[in-house]
Amino acid sequence: MLWANWTGTSTVPSLALYPHQWSWDSAFIAIGLRHLSPLRAQLELETLLAAQWGDGRVPHIVFNDAVPPGAYFPGPDFWRSATAGRRAGAPGGVQTSGIVQPPVHALAAWLVHRADPGLSRARSFLARLRPRLAAWHRYLMTARDAGGAGLAAVLHPWEQGMDNSPCWDGPLSRVEPADPGAFRRADLDHGAPGDRPTDTDYGRYVRLAAQYRDQGYEDAGRDGTRRDPGAFSVEDPAFNALLITSEYALALIEAELDGTECRSSERRERARALTDTLVARLWDPARALFLCRDLRSDRLIAERGVTGLIPLVLPALPPAVTAALVRTARGPHFGLGGATRLVPSYDLTGPAFDPRRYWRGPAWFNTNWLVAKGLRLHGELPLADRLRAAMLDAADASDFAEYVDPYTGAGRGARRFGWTAALTLDLLR
Ligand code: DGY
Repeated sequence: MLWANWTGTSTVPSLALYPHQWSWDSAFIAIGLRHLSPLRAQLELETLLAAQWGDGRVPHIVFNDAVPPGAYFPGPDFWRSATAGRRAGAPGGVQTSGIVQPPVHALAAWLVHRADPGLSRARSFLARLRPRLAAWHRYLMTARDAGGAGLAAVLHPWEQGMDNSPCWDGPLSRVEPADPGAFRRADLDHGAPGDRPTDTDYGRYVRLAAQYRDQGYEDAGRDGTRRDPGAFSVEDPAFNALLITSEYALALIEAELDGTECRSSERRERARALTDTLVARLWDPARALFLCRDLRSDRLIAERGVTGLIPLVLPALPPAVTAALVRTARGPHFGLGGATRLVPSYDLTGPAFDPRRYWRGPAWFNTNWLVAKGLRLHGELPLADRLRAAMLDAADASDFAEYVDPYTGAGRGARRFGWTAALTLDLLR
């Protein structure tokens, strides 16, 4: 099915629901595709990074001109305006959105290179991607450092990727929803309303994105020009853990290209320091979980989301934090190895838990893949093996669903979903 979703230059997450190229989807898809076709995996990342903006941001959607305008909302016309993007360096010749998604790309590039180093060297794959990946990380660590501590902030739930997580309910409540008559939700043409975000959430997504666009996509971070961080400005554990993981990967890429020792690289040191910052800013010892920090109130958001488990992928976490995170994953809030088959996106005991609605409870394959990777990294092999087996079962039984009920594994959302298929392939290798 990964062939069916291939457009010639990239892979769509879903033929009907998401008919363009999505940033973090493409990174996860490349990680799986490398086992089938290292060349296509390289092209996937090259296509995405060719749409990078002048300021270094990698847009969350690269639009496919062949797709009819009404097939997805918000399309290219929404993200474009007379002046929007000019200062931030929106690229010519390709239509993109103006927000970002989690930076999984350097990790993906490194894994894709390792799948066929000969092909990669012959095509100068890493050499061509390196400056783009470095600029992407620089953008996140400077223009997006709205909190001033070194972590990247997200300005929209779509940027963090877990769109309607209850973690966002507090910050989103400050946003006046856009007039529902002013736009049409194309997602409901293809998805059951009970599986998707509500209309009120959508109205808020649209309002926030339009505000950012109308301010020329300018950022509030250290080298940004927008002084007001906006209604939604959050430091998120998964987004930053993925940035740190990708910093380690970029250190490996640089060492490979320069023929130097990676262990002592400046970038690696920065990744370690950022891990300390992540713990200092987002670790909540009482809940034994990483939480999101709302930069408007400068307080941690008291909701338990799967985002708080993702820092398990970091090698330099303090051992006491790692041990506590594993206990939390196994405990009543996430049920790993016990009540649930797969790790849910949100606290099983939380008031907003809903086993079918998108990121308010269902289990997703990319987050479970990351949790399994983290468990393996920290030596929790039986737990990681069990999770891997459950993911393979659920992916197969649900026809590669976008997400599943964490208790039963019943499929929800789109089927034949790109990263579900790709990460299944990765688990099989
Ligand atoms: C959507 O359209 O639902 C996406 O999550 C936004 O990128």
